[in-house]
Amino acid sequence: MRISVIGCGYLGAVHAACMAKLGHEVVGIDVDERKIAALAAAKAPFYEPSLEDLLVEVQKTGRLTFTTDMSAAAGSSVHFICVGTPQKKGENGADLAFVDAAFAALLPHLSEDDVVVGKSTVPVGTAARLAQLMNERQPSAHLVWNPEFLREGHAVADTLQPDRFVYGVSNGSEDHPAVAVLDDVYSQPLATGTPRLVTDHPTAELVKAAANSFLATKISFINAMAEVCEATGADVTQLADAIGMDDRIGRKFLHAGIGFGGGCLPKDIRAFMARAGELGADQALTFLREVDAINMRRRTRVVELARELCGGSLLGKRITVLGAAFKPESDDVRDSPALSIAAQLQLQGSVVTVTDPKALSNAARRFPELHYQEDTDKAVQKADALLLLTEWQEYRDLDPYALTSLVTSPSILDGRNVLDAAKWRAAGWTYRGFGRP
Ligand code: UDX
Repeated sequence: MRISVIGCGYLGAVHAACMAKLGHEVVGIDVDERKIAALAAAKAPFYEPSLEDLLVEVQKTGRLTFTTDMSAAAGSSVHFICVGTPQKKGENGADLAFVDAAFAALLPHLSEDDVVVGKSTVPVGTAARLAQLMNERQPSAHLVWNPEFLREGHAVADTLQPDRFVYGVSNGSEDHPAVAVLDDVYSQPLATGTPRLVTDHPTAELVKAAANSFLATKISFINAMAEVCEATGADVTQLADAIGMDDRIGRKFLHAGIGFGGGCLPKDIRAFMARAGELGADQALTFLREVDAINMRRRTRVVELARELCGGSLLGKRITVLGAAFKPESDDVRDSPALSIAAQLQLQGSVVTVTDPKALSNAARRFPELHYQEDTDKAVQKADALLLLTEWQEYRDLDPYALTSLVTSPSILDGRNVLDAAKWRAAGWTYRGFGRP
């Protein structure tokens, strides 16, 4: 099938490459010339494991091209909208400027019976509004809302073998003509048994908001338990193991630590609350305000613990932050708790050096006032305290014995509860975890 993918960021670039891998002829379109030039040269404009190999592989087939020219969408019968919906400046709601602009630019190039597929995370009601606009311009075209659930760091696998497909169509029914078209697009993963659910537009939009809210709630729940554990001397990691053995609860997303960040969970729960407010259903989601507050409290708590580790004052203390990305296997620093903590420590008078295997250039663009060092050994030189804030494997594997001679004071705060506390203590380190004695 001939497919256009509009918006080539974390979502769209991966989606375009994966659709070509599934055998389709794909054109990726974006207004950012730098991004398009990189993708056209089979270079990923951001770090995502296995994406670059996939780009090289599919571009050799000639099935994947990139352009900044929206008229290239004209030859396709299916058009995926994959642009970002960031948080509005100074407000909780989502900024739909990119969705609206992409949609407006695409409309003149639609042909009869084309299918436009929204993948961006949008406030409920957006699909109905866009479908109305489309109906005025090209009444025989269809709009499907098909939310994306990919995780950064696993984006290629999550796109090629997702947990489920959700199709939101105007009548919410299997017999909608766009259902068969999307089934063709995804025929390979569907053939391997991936479940798919056909529903209406608002339900499909809400599925995404609800899924991310649930994940955020799960993380804040265990972080709230960590606060209680700290007050009682209990161990939150053992607590999570024990409650996670209950099938109904499950151990995933129960890792207590510095909390969630990234380009999705924080802004999605805020946009959901804002939208519920507009709809007069704000009471239903007031718990998300608490989820957000628990999450932000983690960042303040790290600063307090770092002060304790440094003997009561941060002034002039050399602190090394291990990890800048919002999670491992990503170079994304959007709302990264690690960086927000590093900036706060710097503001409070410590000298902060940040290291990360992939995210340093993105971090330096956002927080130019921090010091950055690629090499871990150099970054930890003469440190008064180490803070492990993003759990890259190489930081999990650090040898406490080898590090001792490099630092000024062997003190470490394990912001993700991933180190073996007994091993670090045996090597002479002062070890602090979260919600652990
Ligand atoms: C998330 C959703 O998982 C995905 O389905 C959706 O499409 C987009 O948003 P992503 O932002 O890539 O994906 O990251 P995710 O793996 O969900 O992690 C989000 C944040 O939560 C990270 O900062 C991570 O470190 C943190 N986290 C995750 C925890 O603090 N504890 C956990 O137990 C799990």
